[in-house]
Amino acid sequence: MNSHGPRPPIAGLAHVTKTFNGHDHRTTAVRDVSFEAFAGELILLLGPSGSGKTTLLTLIAGLSRPTAGTVSLFGRDIERFSAKELQRLRAEKIGFIFQTFLLIDSLTARENIEAVLRFNGTGRSARRTKAAALLRRLQIEYLAGRFPRTMSQGEKQRVAVARAMANDAELIIADEPTGSLETKQGLGIIRILHALAKEGNKCVIVASHDLRLAEFTDRVIRLEDGRMTS
Ligand SMILES: Nc1ncnc2c1ncn2[C@@H]1O[C@H](COP(=O)(O)OP(=O)(O)O)[C@@H](O)[C@H]1O
Ligand SMILES: [Mg+2]
Repeated sequence: MNSHGPRPPIAGLAHVTKTFNGHDHRTTAVRDVSFEAFAGELILLLGPSGSGKTTLLTLIAGLSRPTAGTVSLFGRDIERFSAKELQRLRAEKIGFIFQTFLLIDSLTARENIEAVLRFNGTGRSARRTKAAALLRRLQIEYLAGRFPRTMSQGEKQRVAVARAMANDAELIIADEPTGSLETKQGLGIIRILHALAKEGNKCVIVASHDLRLAEFTDRVIRLEDGRMTS
């Protein structure tokens, strides 16, 4: 037991190492990382480019498997989930904001957000209502009918944040969510993510190289060359 009480952590890592085997060399991107992330907190993974942040997020999301150590999600070792169960878990309980946004080019902002809701069986009119509310919350109602190719990087990023929030996921994972925004907008995004953790009682894990985000987070985990330094 710990100070967070009897609830299991949303995500737990124990001595996680990830090594990539290339043709002629191996890269150990994550080395012996251990921590737990709970509902209601925003954790910042802070480290320079190449320190292993993205690799760590893909491990937390069950998108890749550790070379050594264990990753658990919602109290269960990911090795014990079938591929199908993991897929469902991601569709229903995890929201992603990827570094490259990964918006669907052929869909408008509103449709990108609604697409997430189709996977968990939300009805058509509820999808509309929910997408409209998210567009409003992120102050991008004006983007509703526009396609990603007509948006700035910052606008795409906001749509990606709205989309990650659409399935009301318990775990939100964000890779450099403020990376392509002006400071003021970037801070707006981190405030929204912070509110999501606090008011929505979500577990939010953000990776960034930007030390300025630290003041909006509960806990900072510093990474250097794949290792936790604090
Ligand atoms: N799929 C991969 N194959 C080989 N090496 C990789 C792969 N993904 C990441 N790496 C390497 O792992 C290290 C950490 O990368 P990454 O997790 O992307 O760091 P960050 O997100 O902090 O910039 C880097 O040296 C990178 O080149
Ligand atoms: Mg990265």
